[in-house]
Amino acid sequence: MMAFSMNSRSPFINIRNLRKIYPTKGGEVCALQDVTFDVFRGEFITLVGPSGCGKTTLLKIISGLLTKTDGELLFSTKGDFDPTRDVGMVFQRPVLLKWRSIVENVLLPVEILRLDRQRYYSKAMELLQLVGLEGFEKSYPNELSGGMQQRASISRALIHNPQLLLMDEPFGALDALTREKMNLEILHIWQETGKTVLFVTHGIQEAVFLADRVIVLSARPARMVAAIDVNLPRPRTMEMKAEKEFGRLCLEIYRLLEEK
Ligand SMILES: Nc1ncnc2c1ncn2[C@@H]1O[C@H](COP(=O)(O)OP(=O)(O)OP(=O)(O)O)[C@@H](O)[C@H]1O
Ligand SMILES: [Mg+2]
Repeated sequence: MMAFSMNSRSPFINIRNLRKIYPTKGGEVCALQDVTFDVFRGEFITLVGPSGCGKTTLLKIISGLLTKTDGELLFSTKGDFDPTRDVGMVFQRPVLLKWRSIVENVLLPVEILRLDRQRYYSKAMELLQLVGLEGFEKSYPNELSGGMQQRASISRALIHNPQLLLMDEPFGALDALTREKMNLEILHIWQETGKTVLFVTHGIQEAVFLADRVIVLSARPARMVAAIDVNLPRPRTMEMKAEKEFGRLCLEIYRLLEEK
């Protein structure tokens, strides 16, 4: 558990009055309005909010895939922050290259970053085993179910050991049991590696179970409604879901989402 010494609460990302407007044929669509919060190094943050409120937009701006319209997004790192190297992103829909085998898809960041393929090949195989895809390394994406593809894209996001992990409803396509297993697995990886995680989910229970802090967003355009501290002990266990405090937190978030 050496990770905990790395989880000291120094601010890592400052998000201030972030705004995003999409120009469309039908006029401007404001997806983010005044989103403000800090992310601390080593923190596990979950984001919840109504469908279409701007969660994916927010993650894409943080990952550098989209530009913001207004506001500030600052990374306080010792060296430069290079999203290609320092961010691993799991998209809402698995975006795998259909002409590459599963293991070759997982190795994509290694190629882009020109890292030692040989060294990372065994790591790719380990990560695929971790997500329950051993035996499918040489398969092609269209030979896998949606949930299996999603698990492959989780391996891809982890292969280059990024310090920031952005996960956009990564477990939405999984069955309940696999989802619970993946929750525990992602917590395990997080505790082992001290990564900072931003995790979008529609599951209130999942949000509470995983997080140090749950950020609740309003309907579009997204504003931050609340940041709820989750003080349940670590490591989290399934039994905690039966505890009173767990239920109380879920209810609090449910009520915040219900308010318009
Ligand atoms: N490329 C785009 N061009 C125009 N509008 C967009 C674009 N992408 C998203 N939007 C709009 O921005 C808003 C927020 O979209 P976003 O995908 O960020 O929502 P979300 O919170 O991730 O939703 P969900 O929970 O359903 O995934 C939506 O109203 C959507 O229609
Ligand atoms: Mg989304």
